[in-house]
Amino acid sequence: MTVESPQNGSVASSTGEPWWRSAVIYQVYIRSFADGNGDGMGDIAGIRARLPYLVDLGVDALWINPWYPSPMADAGYDVSDYRDVEPRFGVLADAEALLREAHEAGLRVLLDIVPNHSSDQHPWFQEALAAGPCSAARERYIFRPGSGAGGDEPPNDWRSVFGGRAWTRITEPDGSPGEWYLHLFAPEQPDVNWTNPEVEADFEQTLRFWFDRGVDGFRIDVAHSLVKAAGLPDLDGRTYPASPGQPTAAEEPHPHWDRDEVHEIYRKWRAVADSYADPRVFVAEAWVERPERLARYVRPGELHTAFNFDFVRAPWNAAALRETIDSTMAEHEAVGAPPTWVLSNHDVTRHLSRLGRAPGDEPAFNLDDLIGRPLDLDLGQRRARAAALLMFALPGGAYVYQGEELGLPEVEDLPEDALQDPTWVRSGHTQRGRDGCRVPIPWSGTEPPFGFSPDGAQGLPWLPQPASWADRTAERLSAEPDSILALYRSALRLRRSLPALGDGGLRWLPSPDGALTFARDPGFGCVVNLSAAPVPLPAGAELLLSSGPLTPEGAVGPDTAVWFATGD
Ligand code: NOJ
Repeated sequence: MTVESPQNGSVASSTGEPWWRSAVIYQVYIRSFADGNGDGMGDIAGIRARLPYLVDLGVDALWINPWYPSPMADAGYDVSDYRDVEPRFGVLADAEALLREAHEAGLRVLLDIVPNHSSDQHPWFQEALAAGPCSAARERYIFRPGSGAGGDEPPNDWRSVFGGRAWTRITEPDGSPGEWYLHLFAPEQPDVNWTNPEVEADFEQTLRFWFDRGVDGFRIDVAHSLVKAAGLPDLDGRTYPASPGQPTAAEEPHPHWDRDEVHEIYRKWRAVADSYADPRVFVAEAWVERPERLARYVRPGELHTAFNFDFVRAPWNAAALRETIDSTMAEHEAVGAPPTWVLSNHDVTRHLSRLGRAPGDEPAFNLDDLIGRPLDLDLGQRRARAAALLMFALPGGAYVYQGEELGLPEVEDLPEDALQDPTWVRSGHTQRGRDGCRVPIPWSGTEPPFGFSPDGAQGLPWLPQPASWADRTAERLSAEPDSILALYRSALRLRRSLPALGDGGLRWLPSPDGALTFARDPGFGCVVNLSAAPVPLPAGAELLLSSGPLTPEGAVGPDTAVWFATGD
Protein backbone atom coordinates (compact mmCIF):
# COMPACT_ATOMS: atom_id res chain seq x y z
CA MET A 1 0.00 0.00 0.00
CA THR A 2 1.44 3.38 -0.89
CA VAL A 3 0.30 6.92 -0.26
CA GLU A 4 1.22 10.26 -1.73
CA SER A 5 3.64 12.23 0.40
CA PRO A 6 2.55 15.86 0.67
CA GLN A 7 6.16 17.17 0.65
CA ASN A 8 7.28 16.14 -2.78
CA GLY A 9 4.52 14.07 -4.37
CA SER A 10 6.63 10.93 -4.15
CA VAL A 11 5.65 7.69 -2.52
CA ALA A 12 6.07 6.83 1.14
CA SER A 13 5.05 3.68 2.90
CA SER A 14 1.58 3.84 4.44
CA THR A 15 3.00 2.25 7.60
CA GLY A 16 5.25 5.25 8.20
CA GLU A 17 8.38 3.13 7.67
CA PRO A 18 10.99 4.83 5.50
CA TRP A 19 10.37 3.79 1.91
CA TRP A 20 13.83 2.29 1.42
CA ARG A 21 13.35 -0.38 4.10
CA SER A 22 11.13 -2.37 1.79
CA ALA A 23 11.69 -0.87 -1.66
CA VAL A 24 11.86 -2.88 -4.85
CA ILE A 25 14.48 -1.07 -6.90
CA TYR A 26 14.83 -1.57 -10.64
CA GLN A 27 18.36 -1.36 -12.01
CA VAL A 28 18.49 0.66 -15.22
CA TYR A 29 21.71 -0.18 -17.03
CA ILE A 30 21.35 2.99 -19.06
CA ARG A 31 23.35 2.10 -22.15
CA SER A 32 21.20 -1.01 -22.69
CA PHE A 33 17.77 0.05 -21.46
CA ALA A 34 16.19 2.16 -24.19
CA ASP A 35 17.69 4.29 -26.96
CA GLY A 36 15.79 7.54 -27.51
CA ASN A 37 18.02 9.20 -30.12
CA GLY A 38 18.73 6.26 -32.40
CA ASP A 39 22.50 6.02 -31.94
CA GLY A 40 22.32 2.40 -30.73
CA MET A 41 23.03 3.24 -27.11
CA GLY A 42 20.45 3.73 -24.37
CA ASP A 43 19.98 7.22 -22.97
CA ILE A 44 17.94 9.43 -20.66
CA ALA A 45 15.31 10.07 -23.33
CA GLY A 46 14.82 6.30 -23.52
CA ILE A 47 14.32 6.02 -19.76
CA ARG A 48 11.81 8.89 -19.77
CA ALA A 49 9.81 7.18 -22.49
CA ARG A 50 9.69 3.92 -20.52
CA LEU A 51 8.65 5.29 -17.13
CA PRO A 52 5.06 4.07 -17.67
CA TYR A 53 6.42 0.54 -18.14
CA LEU A 54 8.23 0.76 -14.79
CA VAL A 55 5.16 2.12 -13.03
CA ASP A 56 3.11 -0.70 -14.51
CA LEU A 57 5.72 -3.23 -13.39
CA GLY A 58 5.20 -1.98 -9.85
CA VAL A 59 8.70 -1.05 -8.69
CA ASP A 60 9.32 1.71 -6.16
CA ALA A 61 12.55 3.21 -7.41
CA LEU A 62 15.23 3.15 -10.13
CA TRP A 63 18.95 2.84 -9.74
CA ILE A 64 20.63 4.20 -12.85
CA ASN A 65 24.22 3.13 -13.62
CA PRO A 66 26.71 5.99 -14.16
CA TRP A 67 25.47 8.58 -16.65
CA TYR A 68 28.32 11.05 -16.25
CA PRO A 69 30.76 12.15 -18.96
CA SER A 70 33.11 9.24 -19.54
CA PRO A 71 35.51 7.93 -22.16
CA MET A 72 33.75 4.58 -21.51
CA ALA A 73 36.85 2.48 -20.85
CA ASP A 74 34.66 0.62 -18.33
CA ALA A 75 31.13 1.42 -19.53
CA GLY A 76 30.86 4.66 -17.56
CA TYR A 77 32.66 3.56 -14.38
CA ASP A 78 35.51 5.79 -15.55
CA VAL A 79 34.08 9.21 -14.79
CA SER A 80 35.67 12.37 -16.21
CA ASP A 81 33.17 14.82 -14.71
CA TYR A 82 31.03 13.83 -11.73
CA ARG A 83 28.68 16.78 -12.04
CA ASP A 84 27.39 16.55 -15.59
CA VAL A 85 25.84 14.09 -18.03
CA GLU A 86 27.58 12.10 -20.77
CA PRO A 87 26.55 13.63 -24.13
CA ARG A 88 25.67 10.18 -25.50
CA PHE A 89 23.06 9.95 -22.72
CA GLY A 90 21.71 13.51 -22.92
CA VAL A 91 22.30 16.80 -21.14
CA LEU A 92 21.81 17.91 -17.55
CA ALA A 93 18.37 19.32 -18.39
CA ASP A 94 17.30 15.83 -19.53
CA ALA A 95 18.45 14.41 -16.20
CA GLU A 96 16.45 17.06 -14.35
CA ALA A 97 13.38 16.33 -16.47
CA LEU A 98 13.71 12.62 -15.77
CA LEU A 99 13.94 13.24 -12.04
CA ARG A 100 10.81 15.40 -12.16
CA GLU A 101 8.84 12.93 -14.26
CA ALA A 102 9.90 9.93 -12.20
CA HIS A 103 8.84 11.68 -8.99
CA GLU A 104 5.53 12.65 -10.54
CA ALA A 105 5.05 8.99 -11.42
CA GLY A 106 5.80 7.98 -7.81
CA LEU A 107 9.27 6.56 -8.52
CA ARG A 108 12.42 7.43 -6.57
CA VAL A 109 15.72 7.71 -8.41
CA LEU A 110 19.15 6.55 -7.22
CA LEU A 111 22.33 7.36 -9.12
CA ASP A 112 25.63 5.53 -9.01
CA ILE A 113 28.64 7.28 -7.47
CA VAL A 114 32.15 6.05 -8.28
CA PRO A 115 34.44 7.23 -5.46
CA ASN A 116 37.31 4.73 -5.68
CA HIS A 117 38.65 5.94 -9.01
CA SER A 118 38.10 8.54 -11.69
CA SER A 119 38.79 8.39 -15.40
CA ASP A 120 42.35 9.01 -16.51
CA GLN A 121 40.77 11.80 -18.60
CA HIS A 122 39.45 13.55 -15.47
CA PRO A 123 41.02 17.05 -15.28
CA TRP A 124 42.55 16.13 -11.92
CA PHE A 125 44.45 13.19 -13.37
CA GLN A 126 45.59 15.17 -16.41
CA GLU A 127 46.80 17.87 -14.04
CA ALA A 128 48.62 15.25 -11.94
CA LEU A 129 50.43 13.91 -15.02
CA ALA A 130 51.55 17.40 -16.01
CA ALA A 131 52.49 18.56 -12.51
CA GLY A 132 55.25 16.07 -11.80
CA PRO A 133 56.32 14.10 -8.69
CA CYS A 134 55.61 15.41 -5.17
CA SER A 135 53.08 17.96 -6.48
CA ALA A 136 49.75 18.64 -4.79
CA ALA A 137 48.04 17.42 -7.97
CA ARG A 138 49.68 13.99 -7.68
CA GLU A 139 48.52 13.79 -4.05
CA ARG A 140 44.94 13.41 -5.28
CA TYR A 141 45.87 9.99 -6.67
CA ILE A 142 48.22 7.22 -5.56
CA PHE A 143 51.52 7.77 -7.32
CA ARG A 144 54.70 6.03 -6.15
CA PRO A 145 58.22 5.54 -7.45
CA GLY A 146 58.82 2.07 -8.83
CA SER A 147 60.85 -0.57 -7.06
CA GLY A 148 63.97 -2.33 -8.33
CA ALA A 149 66.83 -0.93 -10.32
CA GLY A 150 65.76 2.26 -12.11
CA GLY A 151 62.26 2.00 -10.62
CA ASP A 152 61.36 -0.41 -13.40
CA GLU A 153 59.20 -2.66 -11.22
CA PRO A 154 55.81 -1.69 -9.78
CA PRO A 155 55.74 -0.38 -6.19
CA ASN A 156 54.03 -3.55 -4.91
CA ASP A 157 52.40 -6.81 -6.04
CA TRP A 158 48.74 -5.72 -6.12
CA ARG A 159 46.62 -7.01 -9.00
CA SER A 160 43.91 -5.32 -11.07
CA VAL A 161 40.42 -6.83 -10.72
CA PHE A 162 40.31 -6.94 -14.52
CA GLY A 163 43.59 -8.84 -14.79
CA GLY A 164 47.25 -7.86 -14.84
CA ARG A 165 49.02 -5.65 -12.36
CA ALA A 166 47.35 -2.78 -10.56
CA TRP A 167 50.07 -0.26 -11.45
CA THR A 168 50.95 1.63 -14.62
CA ARG A 169 54.10 3.61 -15.14
CA ILE A 170 53.88 7.07 -16.61
CA THR A 171 56.29 9.17 -18.61
CA GLU A 172 57.15 12.38 -16.77
CA PRO A 173 56.59 15.75 -18.48
CA ASP A 174 60.35 15.92 -19.25
CA GLY A 175 60.13 12.61 -21.16
CA SER A 176 61.88 10.47 -18.56
CA PRO A 177 60.42 7.16 -17.31
CA GLY A 178 58.42 8.19 -14.29
CA GLU A 179 56.30 7.22 -11.31
CA TRP A 180 53.67 4.51 -11.19
CA TYR A 181 49.99 5.05 -10.32
CA LEU A 182 47.59 2.61 -8.71
CA HIS A 183 44.45 1.33 -10.46
CA LEU A 184 42.60 -1.53 -8.82
CA PHE A 185 40.54 -1.71 -12.03
CA ALA A 186 41.59 -0.67 -15.56
CA PRO A 187 44.60 1.63 -16.18
CA GLU A 188 42.05 4.20 -17.37
CA GLN A 189 40.61 4.19 -13.82
CA PRO A 190 43.28 5.62 -11.47
CA ASP A 191 42.45 5.19 -7.76
CA VAL A 192 41.99 8.48 -5.94
CA ASN A 193 43.65 9.18 -2.61
CA TRP A 194 41.06 9.19 0.16
CA THR A 195 43.56 10.44 2.75
CA ASN A 196 43.53 13.77 0.89
CA PRO A 197 40.92 16.18 2.36
CA GLU A 198 40.48 17.75 -1.06
CA VAL A 199 39.19 14.43 -2.41
CA GLU A 200 36.75 14.10 0.46
CA ALA A 201 35.47 17.66 0.00
CA ASP A 202 35.03 17.22 -3.73
CA PHE A 203 32.94 14.05 -3.39
CA GLU A 204 30.78 15.77 -0.81
CA GLN A 205 30.19 18.53 -3.34
CA THR A 206 29.17 15.90 -5.90
CA LEU A 207 26.70 14.32 -3.49
CA ARG A 208 25.14 17.70 -2.82
CA PHE A 209 25.09 18.64 -6.50
CA TRP A 210 22.80 15.71 -7.28
CA PHE A 211 20.85 15.76 -4.02
CA ASP A 212 20.05 19.43 -4.70
CA ARG A 213 18.58 18.32 -8.03
CA GLY A 214 16.26 15.87 -6.32
CA VAL A 215 18.22 12.63 -6.58
CA ASP A 216 16.94 10.30 -3.85
CA GLY A 217 20.16 8.46 -3.19
CA PHE A 218 23.26 6.73 -4.48
CA ARG A 219 24.55 3.28 -5.08
CA ILE A 220 28.22 3.40 -4.01
CA ASP A 221 30.57 1.67 -6.42
CA VAL A 222 33.13 -0.67 -4.77
CA ALA A 223 32.30 0.88 -1.41
CA HIS A 224 34.78 -1.41 0.34
CA SER A 225 37.91 -0.34 -1.55
CA LEU A 226 38.44 3.36 -0.89
CA VAL A 227 41.02 3.14 1.90
CA LYS A 228 44.41 1.49 1.37
CA ALA A 229 46.84 0.41 4.09
CA ALA A 230 49.54 2.96 4.87
CA GLY A 231 52.78 1.93 3.17
CA LEU A 232 50.86 -0.12 0.58
CA PRO A 233 52.21 -3.48 1.78
CA ASP A 234 52.52 -6.43 -0.59
CA LEU A 235 49.80 -9.06 -0.72
CA ASP A 236 52.36 -11.85 -0.63
CA GLY A 237 49.92 -14.33 -2.11
CA ARG A 238 47.00 -13.30 0.02
CA THR A 239 43.69 -13.59 -1.85
CA TYR A 240 40.30 -11.98 -1.33
CA PRO A 241 38.12 -13.65 -0.23
CA ALA A 242 40.68 -15.45 1.90
CA SER A 243 41.75 -18.89 0.70
CA PRO A 244 41.78 -21.73 3.24
CA GLY A 245 44.60 -21.14 5.72
CA GLN A 246 44.78 -17.41 5.07
CA PRO A 247 43.53 -14.77 7.53
CA THR A 248 40.15 -13.22 6.76
CA ALA A 249 39.79 -9.45 6.55
CA ALA A 250 38.15 -9.56 9.99
CA GLU A 251 41.19 -11.32 11.47
CA GLU A 252 43.84 -9.25 9.76
CA PRO A 253 42.97 -6.18 7.71
CA HIS A 254 43.44 -6.69 3.99
CA PRO A 255 45.71 -4.04 2.37
CA HIS A 256 42.92 -2.66 0.20
CA TRP A 257 39.56 -4.39 0.66
CA ASP A 258 37.05 -3.75 3.43
CA ARG A 259 39.34 -1.84 5.77
CA ASP A 260 37.80 -0.44 8.92
CA GLU A 261 38.85 3.14 8.14
CA VAL A 262 36.42 3.25 5.21
CA HIS A 263 33.50 3.53 7.62
CA GLU A 264 34.65 6.97 8.69
CA ILE A 265 33.91 8.20 5.16
CA TYR A 266 30.39 6.79 5.21
CA ARG A 267 29.57 8.32 8.56
CA LYS A 268 30.29 11.69 6.96
CA TRP A 269 28.24 10.83 3.87
CA ARG A 270 25.33 9.82 6.06
CA ALA A 271 25.40 13.22 7.73
CA VAL A 272 25.20 14.85 4.29
CA ALA A 273 22.22 12.66 3.32
CA ASP A 274 20.46 13.37 6.61
CA SER A 275 20.90 17.11 6.22
CA TYR A 276 18.11 17.08 3.60
CA ALA A 277 14.51 17.55 4.71
CA ASP A 278 13.49 14.46 2.75
CA PRO A 279 16.55 12.37 3.68
CA ARG A 280 18.52 10.70 0.92
CA VAL A 281 19.75 7.11 0.97
CA PHE A 282 22.76 4.99 0.09
CA VAL A 283 23.24 1.41 -0.97
CA ALA A 284 26.73 -0.04 -0.75
CA GLU A 285 28.25 -2.26 -3.39
CA ALA A 286 30.62 -4.15 -1.11
CA TRP A 287 31.76 -7.66 -2.02
CA VAL A 288 32.89 -8.65 1.46
CA GLU A 289 33.79 -11.93 3.05
CA ARG A 290 30.98 -12.60 5.52
CA PRO A 291 27.51 -11.21 6.34
CA GLU A 292 28.83 -9.69 9.56
CA ARG A 293 31.34 -7.66 7.54
CA LEU A 294 28.51 -6.43 5.29
CA ALA A 295 26.39 -5.44 8.28
CA ARG A 296 29.14 -3.08 9.41
CA TYR A 297 28.33 -0.85 6.42
CA VAL A 298 24.74 -0.45 7.57
CA ARG A 299 25.31 0.24 11.25
CA PRO A 300 23.44 3.18 12.75
CA GLY A 301 24.91 6.43 11.43
CA GLU A 302 26.41 4.76 8.34
CA LEU A 303 24.80 3.62 5.07
CA HIS A 304 21.13 2.68 4.80
CA THR A 305 21.42 -0.55 2.86
CA ALA A 306 23.94 -2.79 1.10
CA PHE A 307 23.56 -5.27 -1.75
CA ASN A 308 23.41 -8.78 -0.42
CA PHE A 309 25.74 -10.63 -2.77
CA ASP A 310 25.63 -13.77 -0.65
CA PHE A 311 22.18 -14.26 -2.16
CA VAL A 312 23.67 -13.93 -5.67
CA ARG A 313 26.38 -16.41 -4.75
CA ALA A 314 24.09 -18.97 -3.09
CA PRO A 315 23.54 -22.17 -5.07
CA TRP A 316 20.01 -23.43 -5.86
CA ASN A 317 19.92 -25.57 -2.79
CA ALA A 318 17.49 -25.30 0.12
CA ALA A 319 20.04 -25.73 2.90
CA ALA A 320 22.48 -23.22 1.42
CA LEU A 321 19.76 -20.66 0.73
CA ARG A 322 18.33 -21.04 4.20
CA GLU A 323 21.77 -20.52 5.71
CA THR A 324 22.23 -17.37 3.61
CA ILE A 325 18.80 -16.03 4.55
CA ASP A 326 19.33 -16.73 8.26
CA SER A 327 22.81 -15.26 8.48
CA THR A 328 21.84 -12.21 6.42
CA MET A 329 18.82 -11.53 8.56
CA ALA A 330 20.58 -12.09 11.86
CA GLU A 331 23.47 -9.78 11.00
CA HIS A 332 21.20 -7.04 9.65
CA GLU A 333 18.82 -7.31 12.58
CA ALA A 334 21.74 -6.87 14.97
CA VAL A 335 22.39 -3.41 13.52
CA GLY A 336 18.74 -2.51 12.83
CA ALA A 337 19.10 -2.39 9.04
CA PRO A 338 16.84 -4.07 6.46
CA PRO A 339 18.44 -6.78 4.31
CA THR A 340 18.31 -6.56 0.52
CA TRP A 341 17.95 -9.41 -1.96
CA VAL A 342 19.44 -9.45 -5.40
CA LEU A 343 19.67 -12.12 -8.07
CA SER A 344 21.42 -10.37 -10.93
CA ASN A 345 23.15 -7.17 -11.97
CA HIS A 346 25.38 -5.89 -14.77
CA ASP A 347 28.47 -7.65 -13.37
CA VAL A 348 27.26 -11.24 -13.03
CA THR A 349 25.85 -13.86 -15.37
CA ARG A 350 22.07 -13.52 -15.64
CA HIS A 351 20.55 -15.79 -13.02
CA LEU A 352 18.31 -17.62 -15.48
CA SER A 353 21.47 -18.98 -17.12
CA ARG A 354 23.15 -19.68 -13.77
CA LEU A 355 20.15 -21.59 -12.47
CA GLY A 356 19.75 -23.55 -15.69
CA ARG A 357 23.03 -25.34 -15.02
CA ALA A 358 23.57 -28.57 -13.15
CA PRO A 359 25.16 -27.60 -9.86
CA GLY A 360 28.94 -27.48 -9.96
CA ASP A 361 31.12 -27.62 -6.90
CA GLU A 362 31.30 -23.85 -6.73
CA PRO A 363 28.38 -21.51 -7.32
CA ALA A 364 29.50 -19.59 -10.40
CA PHE A 365 28.41 -16.08 -11.21
CA ASN A 366 31.04 -15.38 -13.87
CA LEU A 367 30.16 -16.47 -17.35
CA ASP A 368 33.69 -17.74 -17.86
CA ASP A 369 33.18 -20.27 -15.06
CA LEU A 370 29.95 -21.51 -16.64
CA ILE A 371 30.80 -21.78 -20.33
CA GLY A 372 30.89 -25.41 -21.33
CA ARG A 373 28.51 -26.57 -18.60
CA PRO A 374 25.30 -27.75 -20.34
CA LEU A 375 22.45 -25.22 -20.15
CA ASP A 376 18.75 -26.12 -19.81
CA LEU A 377 16.88 -22.88 -20.53
CA ASP A 378 13.48 -24.29 -19.50
CA LEU A 379 14.89 -25.33 -16.15
CA GLY A 380 16.46 -21.88 -15.82
CA GLN A 381 13.07 -20.25 -16.57
CA ARG A 382 11.25 -22.34 -13.98
CA ARG A 383 13.85 -21.63 -11.34
CA ALA A 384 14.11 -17.94 -12.20
CA ARG A 385 10.35 -17.62 -11.70
CA ALA A 386 10.54 -19.42 -8.36
CA ALA A 387 13.57 -17.40 -7.27
CA ALA A 388 11.69 -14.15 -7.96
CA LEU A 389 8.81 -15.18 -5.69
CA LEU A 390 11.29 -16.16 -3.00
CA MET A 391 13.13 -12.85 -3.29
CA PHE A 392 9.98 -10.70 -3.18
CA ALA A 393 8.67 -12.61 -0.16
CA LEU A 394 11.78 -12.10 1.96
CA PRO A 395 11.99 -9.30 4.54
CA GLY A 396 13.56 -6.03 3.41
CA GLY A 397 14.21 -4.62 -0.05
CA ALA A 398 14.84 -6.26 -3.41
CA TYR A 399 16.57 -5.42 -6.69
CA VAL A 400 15.40 -6.25 -10.20
CA TYR A 401 18.04 -6.08 -12.93
CA GLN A 402 16.51 -4.86 -16.19
CA GLY A 403 15.41 -7.74 -18.36
CA GLU A 404 15.08 -10.36 -15.63
CA GLU A 405 11.35 -9.62 -15.68
CA LEU A 406 11.45 -10.71 -19.35
CA GLY A 407 13.25 -13.93 -18.52
CA LEU A 408 16.33 -12.90 -20.49
CA PRO A 409 19.18 -15.39 -20.48
CA GLU A 410 22.86 -14.49 -20.64
CA VAL A 411 24.08 -14.06 -24.22
CA GLU A 412 26.96 -16.49 -24.10
CA ASP A 413 28.03 -16.38 -27.72
CA LEU A 414 28.57 -12.72 -28.47
CA PRO A 415 31.06 -12.45 -31.35
CA GLU A 416 34.52 -11.75 -30.01
CA ASP A 417 34.83 -8.56 -32.00
CA ALA A 418 31.74 -7.21 -30.24
CA LEU A 419 33.12 -7.67 -26.71
CA GLN A 420 33.76 -4.39 -24.89
CA ASP A 421 34.33 -5.36 -21.25
CA PRO A 422 37.93 -4.41 -20.35
CA THR A 423 38.26 -7.88 -18.83
CA TRP A 424 38.43 -9.32 -22.37
CA VAL A 425 41.55 -7.36 -23.33
CA ARG A 426 43.16 -7.34 -19.86
CA SER A 427 42.89 -11.13 -19.61
CA GLY A 428 44.68 -11.59 -22.92
CA HIS A 429 41.39 -12.62 -24.58
CA THR A 430 40.82 -15.53 -22.21
CA GLN A 431 37.90 -14.14 -20.13
CA ARG A 432 34.85 -12.91 -22.04
CA GLY A 433 33.75 -10.81 -19.07
CA ARG A 434 30.35 -9.24 -18.46
CA ASP A 435 28.96 -8.16 -21.83
CA GLY A 436 26.61 -11.15 -22.03
CA CYS A 437 24.35 -9.74 -19.32
CA ARG A 438 24.44 -6.23 -20.81
CA VAL A 439 22.79 -6.84 -24.19
CA PRO A 440 20.14 -4.19 -25.04
CA ILE A 441 16.58 -4.91 -23.92
CA PRO A 442 14.05 -6.26 -26.46
CA TRP A 443 10.91 -4.13 -26.21
CA SER A 444 8.78 -4.97 -29.23
CA GLY A 445 8.63 -6.31 -32.78
CA THR A 446 10.06 -9.45 -34.28
CA GLU A 447 13.63 -8.56 -35.20
CA PRO A 448 16.56 -6.59 -33.81
CA PRO A 449 16.67 -3.91 -32.51
CA PHE A 450 13.31 -5.04 -31.06
CA GLY A 451 12.18 -1.48 -30.34
CA PHE A 452 15.35 -0.75 -28.33
CA SER A 453 16.12 2.03 -30.84
CA PRO A 454 13.42 4.06 -32.60
CA ASP A 455 12.26 3.11 -36.11
CA GLY A 456 14.76 4.22 -38.74
CA ALA A 457 17.62 4.50 -36.21
CA GLN A 458 21.05 5.03 -37.73
CA GLY A 459 23.05 3.11 -35.12
CA LEU A 460 22.92 -0.61 -34.40
CA PRO A 461 22.52 -1.63 -30.74
CA TRP A 462 25.97 -1.38 -29.14
CA LEU A 463 25.89 -5.14 -28.51
CA PRO A 464 24.02 -7.44 -30.93
CA GLN A 465 20.74 -8.94 -29.73
CA PRO A 466 20.00 -12.62 -30.46
CA ALA A 467 17.24 -13.18 -33.06
CA SER A 468 15.66 -15.63 -30.59
CA TRP A 469 14.70 -12.70 -28.37
CA ALA A 470 11.65 -12.16 -30.61
CA ASP A 471 9.71 -14.22 -28.07
CA ARG A 472 11.17 -12.30 -25.08
CA THR A 473 9.98 -8.78 -25.90
CA ALA A 474 8.07 -6.76 -23.32
CA GLU A 475 5.30 -6.32 -25.90
CA ARG A 476 4.92 -10.04 -26.49
CA LEU A 477 5.16 -11.05 -22.83
CA SER A 478 2.62 -8.38 -21.88
CA ALA A 479 0.09 -10.22 -24.01
CA GLU A 480 0.74 -13.60 -22.34
CA PRO A 481 -1.10 -14.04 -19.04
CA ASP A 482 1.35 -16.69 -17.81
CA SER A 483 4.56 -14.94 -18.84
CA ILE A 484 7.33 -14.17 -16.41
CA LEU A 485 6.52 -10.48 -16.91
CA ALA A 486 2.95 -11.12 -15.79
CA LEU A 487 4.33 -13.02 -12.77
CA TYR A 488 6.58 -10.09 -11.79
CA ARG A 489 3.66 -7.65 -12.16
CA SER A 490 1.35 -9.81 -10.05
CA ALA A 491 3.99 -10.39 -7.39
CA LEU A 492 4.81 -6.70 -7.08
CA ARG A 493 1.14 -5.72 -6.97
CA LEU A 494 0.50 -8.28 -4.23
CA ARG A 495 3.63 -7.24 -2.36
CA ARG A 496 2.27 -3.70 -2.15
CA SER A 497 -1.13 -4.82 -0.97
CA LEU A 498 -0.06 -7.39 1.64
CA PRO A 499 0.97 -5.82 4.95
CA ALA A 500 3.11 -8.88 5.77
CA LEU A 501 5.53 -8.24 2.89
CA GLY A 502 8.46 -5.83 2.77
CA ASP A 503 10.25 -4.92 6.00
CA GLY A 504 9.87 -7.25 8.99
CA GLY A 505 10.76 -10.77 10.07
CA LEU A 506 9.95 -14.33 9.04
CA ARG A 507 9.20 -17.65 10.75
CA TRP A 508 10.35 -20.92 9.25
CA LEU A 509 7.65 -23.56 9.02
CA PRO A 510 8.23 -27.31 8.95
CA SER A 511 9.20 -28.34 5.45
CA PRO A 512 10.34 -31.52 3.69
CA ASP A 513 14.04 -31.77 2.83
CA GLY A 514 14.89 -29.67 -0.17
CA ALA A 515 12.09 -27.16 0.33
CA LEU A 516 11.85 -23.83 2.13
CA THR A 517 8.63 -22.83 3.83
CA PHE A 518 8.16 -19.70 5.87
CA ALA A 519 5.44 -17.48 7.23
CA ARG A 520 5.29 -13.73 7.57
CA ASP A 521 2.78 -12.02 9.79
CA PRO A 522 0.02 -11.33 9.30
CA GLY A 523 -1.25 -14.29 7.37
CA PHE A 524 1.30 -14.83 4.60
CA GLY A 525 3.23 -17.95 3.67
CA CYS A 526 5.73 -18.94 0.98
CA VAL A 527 6.96 -22.35 -0.05
CA VAL A 528 9.80 -22.89 -2.50
CA ASN A 529 10.42 -26.41 -3.71
CA LEU A 530 14.05 -26.93 -4.71
CA SER A 531 13.78 -30.73 -4.60
CA ALA A 532 12.81 -33.22 -7.28
CA ALA A 533 9.64 -34.40 -5.49
CA PRO A 534 6.32 -32.54 -5.10
CA VAL A 535 5.76 -30.79 -1.77
CA PRO A 536 2.24 -30.48 -0.33
CA LEU A 537 0.96 -27.05 0.63
CA PRO A 538 0.51 -26.59 4.40
CA ALA A 539 -2.97 -27.43 5.69
CA GLY A 540 -5.40 -24.55 5.27
CA ALA A 541 -3.17 -22.70 2.81
CA GLU A 542 -5.05 -20.58 0.33
CA LEU A 543 -3.22 -20.00 -2.96
CA LEU A 544 -2.27 -16.40 -3.71
CA LEU A 545 0.29 -16.76 -6.49
CA SER A 546 2.34 -19.55 -7.98
CA SER A 547 5.48 -19.42 -10.12
CA GLY A 548 4.26 -22.46 -12.10
CA PRO A 549 1.33 -24.86 -12.27
CA LEU A 550 0.54 -26.96 -9.19
CA THR A 551 0.56 -30.73 -9.64
CA PRO A 552 -2.81 -32.40 -10.36
CA GLU A 553 -2.96 -33.22 -6.63
CA GLY A 554 -2.53 -29.54 -5.75
CA ALA A 555 1.07 -29.87 -4.54
CA VAL A 556 4.02 -27.61 -5.30
CA GLY A 557 6.09 -29.17 -8.08
CA PRO A 558 9.91 -29.14 -8.35
CA ASP A 559 11.48 -25.72 -8.93
CA THR A 560 8.24 -23.96 -8.11
CA ALA A 561 7.39 -21.34 -5.50
CA VAL A 562 3.95 -20.55 -4.11
CA TRP A 563 2.61 -17.64 -2.08
CA PHE A 564 -0.33 -18.50 0.11
CA ALA A 565 -2.57 -17.00 2.75
CA THR A 566 -2.14 -18.93 5.99
CA GLY A 567 -5.62 -18.23 7.29
CA ASP A 568 -4.12 -17.15 10.68
C1 NOJ B 1 31.68 -2.27 -9.86
C2 NOJ B 1 30.80 -2.00 -11.05
O1 NOJ B 1 29.54 -2.58 -10.84
C3 NOJ B 1 31.53 -2.57 -12.24
O2 NOJ B 1 30.71 -2.61 -13.38
C4 NOJ B 1 32.78 -1.78 -12.45
O3 NOJ B 1 33.53 -2.37 -13.50
C5 NOJ B 1 33.65 -1.76 -11.19
N1 NOJ B 1 32.89 -1.52 -10.02
C6 NOJ B 1 34.69 -0.67 -11.30
O4 NOJ B 1 34.10 0.59 -11.17
